Amino acid sequence: MNDDAGIESVLREDRVFPPPAGFSESVGGAWIASMADYESRYRRSIDDPESFWGEAAREYRWMKPFTTVLEWNCPDARWFADGTLNLCDNCVDRHVDEGHGDDTAIIWEGEPVGADGPEVLRLSYRDLQRETAKFGNALKALGVGKGDIVTIYMGMVPEVAIAMLACARIGAAHSVIFGGFSASAIVDRVNDADSKVILTCDGAWRRGSVVPLKANVDEACAKLPDVEHVVMLERCGNDVELTEGRDHDWATLVSTQSEDCPCEEMAAEDLLFLLYTSGSTGKPKGIVHTTAGYLVHAALTAKNTFNLRPGRDHVYWCTADVGWITGHSYILYGILPNRVPCLMYEGAPNAPDEARFWDIVERHRVTHFYTAPTAIRAFMKWGDAHPAKHDLSSLKVLGTVGEPINPEAWIWYHEVIGGERCPIVDTWWQTETGGHMITPQPAATPTVPGSCTLPALGIDAAIVDDDGNELPNGRGGLLVIRKPWPSMLRGIHGDRDRYVETYWSRVEGMYTAGDAANRDDRGYFWIMGRIDDVINVSGHRLGTMEVESALVSHPDVVEAAVVGFPHEIKGTGIAAFVTLASGVEAHDELKSTLRAHTGHEIGAIAKPDMIRFTNALPKTRSGKIMRRLLRDIAAGRDSDQDTTTLEDLSVLAKLRDDED
Ligand code: WTA
Repeated sequence: MNDDAGIESVLREDRVFPPPAGFSESVGGAWIASMADYESRYRRSIDDPESFWGEAAREYRWMKPFTTVLEWNCPDARWFADGTLNLCDNCVDRHVDEGHGDDTAIIWEGEPVGADGPEVLRLSYRDLQRETAKFGNALKALGVGKGDIVTIYMGMVPEVAIAMLACARIGAAHSVIFGGFSASAIVDRVNDADSKVILTCDGAWRRGSVVPLKANVDEACAKLPDVEHVVMLERCGNDVELTEGRDHDWATLVSTQSEDCPCEEMAAEDLLFLLYTSGSTGKPKGIVHTTAGYLVHAALTAKNTFNLRPGRDHVYWCTADVGWITGHSYILYGILPNRVPCLMYEGAPNAPDEARFWDIVERHRVTHFYTAPTAIRAFMKWGDAHPAKHDLSSLKVLGTVGEPINPEAWIWYHEVIGGERCPIVDTWWQTETGGHMITPQPAATPTVPGSCTLPALGIDAAIVDDDGNELPNGRGGLLVIRKPWPSMLRGIHGDRDRYVETYWSRVEGMYTAGDAANRDDRGYFWIMGRIDDVINVSGHRLGTMEVESALVSHPDVVEAAVVGFPHEIKGTGIAAFVTLASGVEAHDELKSTLRAHTGHEIGAIAKPDMIRFTNALPKTRSGKIMRRLLRDIAAGRDSDQDTTTLEDLSVLAKLRDDED
């Protein structure tokens, strides 16, 4: 288990924040109105899951209604399996057919701020219908058909939403790669998914500079002979070349396409997307999500957790990138079916200055705001003056995701951003779960800073020991889900054994999340951290072994051990202990080289915050790296105080040999 220090103190947190008075009225009525309401619906959802989920699923538009809710043969679930539907239809066309074609679906704001302010674009459901149809036809023209996997490596532009929805429209699956990943990361993911088509942009705006997306794709394609087409959207006007026969200009390709592209009829269990995420090994895994179940839970949780209601002037904004699961579920697929306008912002929170987010909230009258604790900690550090310059009175619900939120950041969010009027929903979930699993219900659940509180409807979350016995409140253990849920992952692409081994073998018959957790005497859940070698850096999930593999791929490095350490802003920072090849001298420049190398192998998010050179890694007698010792060393030392000289950590290892 990772660091469990601190859990005792958080469990003693006794500040309780009931839902603010007047909240339900302010959002046009609550879907889950009180704790009694939550508790009775929760009980029913667990006692009779098939009727609960069947009813939830009937909210959406089916082409052929399902007659069975669940076929469960642990660890294989099939939800609503004999029904057919299309996700793009439920996000877009349905609203047009029901008379809401002119309502705003997406409000997009670009990062650069010109003399007239930033570029803002509003897309109605009718616009989305036309654009996804045209882009769907463009994909078909490139030979993309049902079941093919399209790789998307783009910035936060409206076209990325159009591209994802267009894939769903024609029955192709997508694999979105976060724009911060490097060319090598693209190579691994494209190969694993066997993707023949890559969608990209010339570049992406980030804090005033351009991330060279197309150049990264070109570098990747040199190692990807099977890629047939690259479609490039011109966004930043930077100088890029199109490779004859392979590359297509987005606008040119789309301009000649017809607007007629009916939504493909998809089986409930057809592949919707792959999303690569980090695990315990060096190789990221392609998490498999299928159509109907994913829609049902993503949309239901979006509705309940944020209390979204159409026609009430709600403007919902999630600051995540679509390259992560949060962007998939809570920018697009869970939000659009709820018919509430969704804001998408292209760039950084501090461009042109640290008040940008609050400026956006004020100008667009944002009502629902969903971000990560790491961002909140950065805002705190930047100071209250920035939010104070703006009118944030439109805000009604605040959300957090991705990592535990420290109580100080929670209180700051509550007071300075929420004006003490907005419930905070601290949502625990994962790429694998597809949607929220443990979260407050804003009009019902009294919140406690640092706790994600109670399970979402239909989710049988528990804390157990290795034998699957539920532990009493106050005893930390494994966080598991005991019953299948519709948006659960269906597998790891191409790796059945790893699926069974990672999620279903530790405790028989239960999904093991990979997190340790505890419950307080209210029964509220507190997430303690990962039990595997995964770390959460600024809310981004990384495998320590991925970073180690990147480091040892450098010729000067013989061995590397990577651990997380507490970091004021990032939550967890990356510490790398490195042994060098003989004859290689330890010096500061080499640290920079290794940081750059890691950035090149994975992406900037994986660059170590601290590198320590050692002539031997501390190991137990049986040869295991003593990670706990390394975590202790990393936690005790700030990155600024790095020593450059070689250290002999094996001495410490000898002193501690019995512990790990
Ligand atoms: C962590 C992000 C505490 C957790 C949606 C989980 C959290 C991992 C929370 C999944 C939260 C996510 N409180 N920890 N509210 N939300 N986590 O797949 O360790 O990128 O297992 O999905 O993030 O990260 P992933």
